[in-house]
Amino acid sequence: MGESRYEGRVALVTGAGSGIGQAVAVRLAGEGAFVVACDLDADGLSATQKAIAEAGGQASTVVGDVCMPADVERMVAARPGERIDLLANVAGVMDHFRPVTELDDDMWHHVMAVNVTGPMRLCRAVLPLMRAAGRGAIVNVSSIGGLTGAVAGTAYVSSKHALIGLTRSTAVLYADDGVRSNVVCPGGVATNIGRTATPEVPWAFERLQKSFARTTRTAEPDEIAALVAWLGSDEAVNVNGAVVTSDGGFTA
Ligand SMILES: NC(=O)c1ccc[n+]([C@@H]2O[C@H](COP(=O)([O-])OP(=O)(O)OC[C@H]3O[C@@H](n4cnc5c(N)ncnc54)[C@H](O)[C@@H]3O)[C@@H](O)[C@H]2O)c1
Repeated sequence: MGESRYEGRVALVTGAGSGIGQAVAVRLAGEGAFVVACDLDADGLSATQKAIAEAGGQASTVVGDVCMPADVERMVAARPGERIDLLANVAGVMDHFRPVTELDDDMWHHVMAVNVTGPMRLCRAVLPLMRAAGRGAIVNVSSIGGLTGAVAGTAYVSSKHALIGLTRSTAVLYADDGVRSNVVCPGGVATNIGRTATPEVPWAFERLQKSFARTTRTAEPDEIAALVAWLGSDEAVNVNGAVVTSDGGFTA
């Protein structure tokens, strides 16, 4: 297996303009998928498309916001045929490590919109296609913040826990349609997410730093992409509703 796991398949990847999503898009295209690469960041998407084209892969790009229903529709409509074989919900934002007492409604709504509502809308839009095809896979990217309260602020941790719930519910309710839904929980990964992760409340960040001391290593984006690609492939046919950590042992 390996090289041809995605031959003839169509994959929709959000957050494809940077970090983990970019690595997922490049890897899937390298394994034969037609990738619909989606992101807010047009420059990042151009870089992704260039990397895919240089490697001989196929992709289209959609500049759009997973929070906007019309943009979600455009992302799904950008597929080349009737099928979407894999949906990888990777786009996400952090919350500047804000504890609940320092959290305003705008930040809460934004983090929940990007990290939970967007993935829900994308699942809702692609599942009819997957049910019609009798097959499909969804891989959501949560975080170890979906399993512990110890790595980010309240909004991020809440959103990443909710994404695990979305994944498990989908796994149960659509298994009989041939659709698998799984979630990956990375630990620290070297990406650009730091732009949304500036500590804004010193006392809260100091408390969180006690747990950061347990960090074992920082992963490269492609280490997470390798797991996403496996979960989305037929090799993982018996894996549904799994919450898979890739954190170098942080949560061990
Ligand atoms: N980097 C880490 O340490 C780490 C750890 C655990 C989980 N994660 C998760 O991995 C995922 C990918 O993050 P990353 O580390 O690659 O970060 P990144 O910032 O490098 O990439 C995230 C991408 O998502 C895009 N994005 C943000 N909001 C969007 C929106 N509303 N609509 C469309 N695109 C949007 C950004 O433009 C960016 O290109 C996120 O869900 C993040 O929570 C990251």
